[in-house]
Amino acid sequence: MQVTFRVLRFSPERDAKPHWGSYQVELEPTDRVLDGLEAIKGRLDGSLSLRRSCAHGICGSDAMRINGRNRLACKVLVKNLKQPITIEPMLGFKVIKDLIVDMEGFFAKYRKIRPYLIEGEPAPEKERLQSPAERERFDETTKCILCGACTTSCPSFWSNPDYIGPASIVQAHRFLFDSRDAGKEERLEVLNQNEGVWRCRTVFNCVEACPRGIHVTRAIAEVKQALLRGKI
Ligand code: SF4
Ligand code: F3S
Ligand code: FES
Repeated sequence: MQVTFRVLRFSPERDAKPHWGSYQVELEPTDRVLDGLEAIKGRLDGSLSLRRSCAHGICGSDAMRINGRNRLACKVLVKNLKQPITIEPMLGFKVIKDLIVDMEGFFAKYRKIRPYLIEGEPAPEKERLQSPAERERFDETTKCILCGACTTSCPSFWSNPDYIGPASIVQAHRFLFDSRDAGKEERLEVLNQNEGVWRCRTVFNCVEACPRGIHVTRAIAEVKQALLRGKI
């Protein structure tokens, strides 16, 4: 099938402002948006810049706005989209080039919540045991692939880029509710600051945007409740 893409192009070294590029490519209906972008880059314009790695919805590197909605380019079939397919970088991050955005601030916030198990009691001889129910408690938030789709669809983040954002809260949830972790106080302290969880106004855009089907707003609510109770 013939597919028309409109891609927002911007090269800070060359362009005063972003502009739309229009491209037509021949694709199979079962091809994904990522296949289309690679066809453009390979056959029509090698200067088109985008991030991708796994091409199978695992690495989280190709999140972008597709027809106005944050999605992973490798997970959306062209046959299911209205044409022309519009492609833009995620909102709220500085554009480095075309679809590549600067995610340094995003990962700096992620590092703030200390995204690793913090040891408390001395290690047992064999392993730290956990019951299936304890594991289940944070199962959903282990699925986050740090794509940034939630944070960049959040109006609270658009209006205040210092807001820690749903992605970091989801990652904090994964460790806060893990029975083996001893870093809860430090994480809750970060999340209780001005730019922490209270900036979330329960808009729900993040739930809609998450390609992993994580109920982001519920995870945020659980963190807020933990803060109000003063314990997990
Ligand atoms: Fe991406 Fe979902 Fe993780 Fe947000 S919670 S970074 S949308 S995988
Ligand atoms: Fe933003 Fe999601 Fe809260 S969209 S305001 S983080 S519910
Ligand atoms: Fe890895 Fe799409 S390229 S998630």
